[in-house]
Amino acid sequence: MSAQNQREQWGSKIGFILAAAGSAIGLGNIWKFPYVAGENGGAAFVLIYLICTALIGLPVLIGEILIGRSTSKDPVGAFKSLSGSKFWASVGGMGVIAGFIILSFYAVVAGWSLGYIYEAVTGKFHAFPEPSQAANHFGDLIGNVYWIVGYFALFMIITMFVVVAGVQKGIERGSKIMMPILFALIIILVIRGVTLEGAEAGIAFLLKPDWSLITGKSILEALGQSFFTLSMGMGAMLTYGSYMSKKDNIPTSAVNIVILDTSIALLAGLAIFSSVFATGLDPTAGPGLIFHTLPVVFTKMPGGYIFSIVFFILLSIAALTSAISLLEVITAYFVDEKNWSRKKAVMVFGGITFLIGIPSALSFNVLSNFSIFGLSFFDFADYITSNIMLPLGGLLISVFIAYRWGFGNALANLRNGAENLIDNYPVLVTIWKISVKYLSPVLIFLVFLYSIGIFN
Ligand code: PFF
Repeated sequence: MSAQNQREQWGSKIGFILAAAGSAIGLGNIWKFPYVAGENGGAAFVLIYLICTALIGLPVLIGEILIGRSTSKDPVGAFKSLSGSKFWASVGGMGVIAGFIILSFYAVVAGWSLGYIYEAVTGKFHAFPEPSQAANHFGDLIGNVYWIVGYFALFMIITMFVVVAGVQKGIERGSKIMMPILFALIIILVIRGVTLEGAEAGIAFLLKPDWSLITGKSILEALGQSFFTLSMGMGAMLTYGSYMSKKDNIPTSAVNIVILDTSIALLAGLAIFSSVFATGLDPTAGPGLIFHTLPVVFTKMPGGYIFSIVFFILLSIAALTSAISLLEVITAYFVDEKNWSRKKAVMVFGGITFLIGIPSALSFNVLSNFSIFGLSFFDFADYITSNIMLPLGGLLISVFIAYRWGFGNALANLRNGAENLIDNYPVLVTIWKISVKYLSPVLIFLVFLYSIGIFN
């Protein structure tokens, strides 16, 4: 490795936690979680999601960060150095490719969010008293090639700008600025939401379970959501873990990341459902909840103009800190394995991601009739990554730890920085072991079968 490519580390423990929480907290929390919970009965789904996150999400997250920290390498290099096997190196390779594809469509939606800041600032929402009108306006915007590609490009440029500055000066510094803003903005929105007249129904929707709406499918959906929202299964957390010091405590950092991620999803749910119920709109509107329903909610709520701006800034920040982690995976691969400079890796792959994302952006307009296996280009990219590559990656990570690297080796490495916890609480070690060896592989395998449509 050349001196120029001397590997960076996080400047502080909190820097890692904020960057990793930034990766985890994204469109998955603020856009996806509320609508998936809305479609699956609210509180009952939330409870199952919490159980899945505690029993499987957290243990696998600890494992993924550990693989990175133990090797100080990108996903391909990490698996290669721990196993010496081409097969396992290719599991890391699948992660790098998945990150790249996810970024290509994730940044398209993130671009909508940037565009909606402009819509909010210019007061456009006040022209829409009905969700159908807001939906038509949304359709007009994403139907416009210049609008959709332009904001997508802008979002990619901002992401590249942060990643090119490096681990400490770009990602860590950016997270330390953006994450506190994000926490403050969500609190403002929750306070606004729950103090609206009629908000109680929305709060009850999120907190009072209706078990009749829970099916086997909702359980699998909850686990899938837990994976996507924790950025697991494709090497983002592994890469962030690789910049950690060997003295840092992985289990407590991971618990902090999970708590932050879960709190933001719940707070977003609270802000959105209290406002949606208070304004008499439909909580089960699905993926359009944010772009069709919320603009109308803002029209009807006192102070809606300001809160609409706050909301779309929040959504854009959340998407940005996640996109940064996606671009960092492929950047780390080219810097570590191919000895490229960071600048070259970011320019080349930021550019290629943009090119690959163009067909996704065009799925909403000129390519709307084009389909692959019955899906638009955008839906296809989402499907193969979220439903196939991520669960498969998560499954292979737990199998790798339990059966290839070996639980004993993993535990010995995990102990660095967590001696007190591991020596004094053997029960926690047992829970981690049961999860990584049995629970996670079996349950993730079920999610995988569900995702590819076996149970439909
Ligand atoms: N966790 C992000 C979200 O909830 O929006 C999505 C994501 C980011 C997935 C980074 C995977 C990843 F590597």
